[in-house]
Amino acid sequence: MPHRFSVALALVLGAGAFSSLMPAVAETVEDERQEIVLTAEERAFVLKEMRGFLNSVEGVISAVANDKAADAEAAAKASGMSVMHEVPQSLRKKLPMAFMKMGHMTHQNFDKLAQEAASLGDKAEILKQLDTILNTCNTCHAQFRLSQSREQ
Ligand code: HEC
Repeated sequence: MPHRFSVALALVLGAGAFSSLMPAVAETVEDERQEIVLTAEERAFVLKEMRGFLNSVEGVISAVANDKAADAEAAAKASGMSVMHEVPQSLRKKLPMAFMKMGHMTHQNFDKLAQEAASLGDKAEILKQLDTILNTCNTCHAQFRLSQSREQ
């Protein structure tokens, strides 16, 4: 038995070493998501906003988990509609309508969550709203990907 185990382990390790020698394979994997081509600067802008979204999600969960629902207000507001005013005009033109709509909805829903946190602060309601927001994150991630144009 121990012998059979080590043979299996050797096979797994062998396969691992083999795949690490073939990084090009990853690039040929089919990606069905729609590509949005942006300049380096525009792509960095979108990804920064995304990291802001994840920060807000963490802030909201942390507030609820620590029984300080009111603290979820600031975390959610950081990804509210006010952030949208910073979106450069050139970028707006390149983003497909469905992308813009889901982005807009996410900012709006963070504002709504901030309102709930500041008023009733009902933890179950806050989590329910966060669930709705995360659903949109996943829908958009399943549909789109970003790539960088050669200019710049
Ligand atoms: C309107 C579409 C859309 C919505 C809504 C959206 N994302 Fe994204 N997100 C993207 C795209 C496109 C990428 C880049 C994916 C790629 O190129 O492979 C991305 C990337 C990210 C990244 C990686 C950032 C980096 O620096 O590489 C994180 C983290 C992220 N999203 C979090 C979130 C969270 C959390 C939410 C919801 C609160 C969310 N996103 C909502 C479209 C969206």
